Amino acid sequence: MESAARIEQSLEAAIDRSTAKPCPPTLAKAVHYAVFPGGARVRPSLTLAVASACGEKVNTVTDGAAAAIEMLHCASLVHDDLPCFDNSDLRRGKPSVHSLYGQPLAVLVGDALIVEAFNTIALTAAHDPAKLTALIACVSNAVGMPNGIAAGQAWETEKRIDVIEYHRAKTGSLFVGSVSAGAIAGGVDPSEWRPLGEKIGEAYQLADDLLDATGSSNECGKPVAQDSINSKPNAILEFGLEHAMKRLKQTVHDAADVVPVCDGSDDLRELIINQATRLVPAKYSNMAA
Ligand code: IPE
Ligand code: IPE
Ligand code: MG
Ligand code: MG
Ligand code: MG
Repeated sequence: MESAARIEQSLEAAIDRSTAKPCPPTLAKAVHYAVFPGGARVRPSLTLAVASACGEKVNTVTDGAAAAIEMLHCASLVHDDLPCFDNSDLRRGKPSVHSLYGQPLAVLVGDALIVEAFNTIALTAAHDPAKLTALIACVSNAVGMPNGIAAGQAWETEKRIDVIEYHRAKTGSLFVGSVSAGAIAGGVDPSEWRPLGEKIGEAYQLADDLLDATGSSNECGKPVAQDSINSKPNAILEFGLEHAMKRLKQTVHDAADVVPVCDGSDDLRELIINQATRLVPAKYSNMAA
């Protein structure tokens, strides 16, 4: 089965289980709305690609981990859009969860998705306790503290913020989790995959900040200029537009360079370079060539 179809199927299984009776019907609808239709599904695609590059034999653990990672990502978006964070009313081209369902349900959708993500790993890796334990630790690091999404979002409340550290925690950590989960599912030591996750995460938030500064709401499916409106630290403020673009291109090359040696490394390198062309805002793609 194609990787995109595998991701949707495992997400559907996890969300169907989580929203089954006696789940309150509006919570069930709002959770479904937060996950489907998805965005680019970049993180679970990486999990599948790394697992396959490591020679995974059984899909169940990989698919469960990939679904969990996307659920955590969706939860982070629901919370990030709340008025107390970025106050954003559009996500993936449609009203954000709190705009449609109200803030109490949006908080609960995020909470429920976080917990159900771990439940999904528990259920799909139950037959392999070593992988189960490693996945729980790896995914917890990606979303918790001191260096996961919760820590990353918390940097916004501090007086002094190091943008590189902030990006590493709020975005890079889940990419490290995504590739590491793929390695664990594929039966390989995840530590040598960490640099790849870090580089992809760094490139991804640079690209997101560039799109926020230069893109249109139509192409992004979310409001633009949010970082300046909300006075959020960002790569353009820190480095300037041209230097941020240079850093993005360099970081993508660095990412391709740190793909660990494995059977599928050529395919993975190609995937990274191809995905990167999608990240660079079209009108600036010649800059810093
Ligand atoms: C948006 O992530 C939030 C960031 C960390 C930049 P994505 O751009 O991957 O969002 P979707 O899932 O494709 O909508
Ligand atoms: C959010 O970064 C990263 C998360 C952990 C959700 P942004 O606030 O820049 O993401 P967008 O631009 O709203 O997608
Ligand atoms: Mg934000
Ligand atoms: Mg935001
Ligand atoms: Mg952004």
